[in-house]
Amino acid sequence: MSLLSRCPVVPVVVLDEPEQALPLGEALLAGGIDVVEITLRTPAGLPGIRRLSALPDLLVGAGSVLLPSHVDAAVDAGARFVVSPGVSADVVGRAAERGVPALPGVATATDLMAVTALGLDEVKFFPAGLLGGPAAIRALAAPFRDLAFMPSGGVTAQTMGEYLALPMVPAVSGSWMAEPALLRERRWDEVTARAAAAVRR
Ligand code: 3PG
Repeated sequence: MSLLSRCPVVPVVVLDEPEQALPLGEALLAGGIDVVEITLRTPAGLPGIRRLSALPDLLVGAGSVLLPSHVDAAVDAGARFVVSPGVSADVVGRAAERGVPALPGVATATDLMAVTALGLDEVKFFPAGLLGGPAAIRALAAPFRDLAFMPSGGVTAQTMGEYLALPMVPAVSGSWMAEPALLRERRWDEVTARAAAAVRR
């Protein structure tokens, strides 16, 4: 199954502490979201991925993957997909060697030609809000008829529906379901409520 057809909403998470990982994963699952991207932006990212990989129903991936060495570290920790802010053939190649899907970030038609040359059919569109939102995806996607897009960056509970109305957008991603303040304050019920609202939309 394609990564983007699994769940229409992919939470992007910056963990402060590895201890946040399991309650977060359980809160998302309780809300009906079974995929999560844990960024490697903090030292808690890799140990958080390791903890979440113990939840059999949750597909955990790594975000902010910039280098092939990050792919190795993430997959060794249990990540089952990797997301990058831009296009790197080296990252995509290492992900293929490690047997996990890569989701590179695109912002231009040149990026889209690069991912097409790499044989990919799913991309992240980043930062979606600043690039012009759904109208930008519609325009950029026109020559790339076989590509599916996951907008990320500036997508909100209020705007996600406009993106998902596009046929080439099977999923969106964003941090609003699991923003750092919610995790710090251990507001797991609120995470579940936001996750449930997002999948209901
Ligand atoms: C990110 O870069 O963290 C993701 O694209 C999510 O962005 P957001 O915080 O605007 O949802």
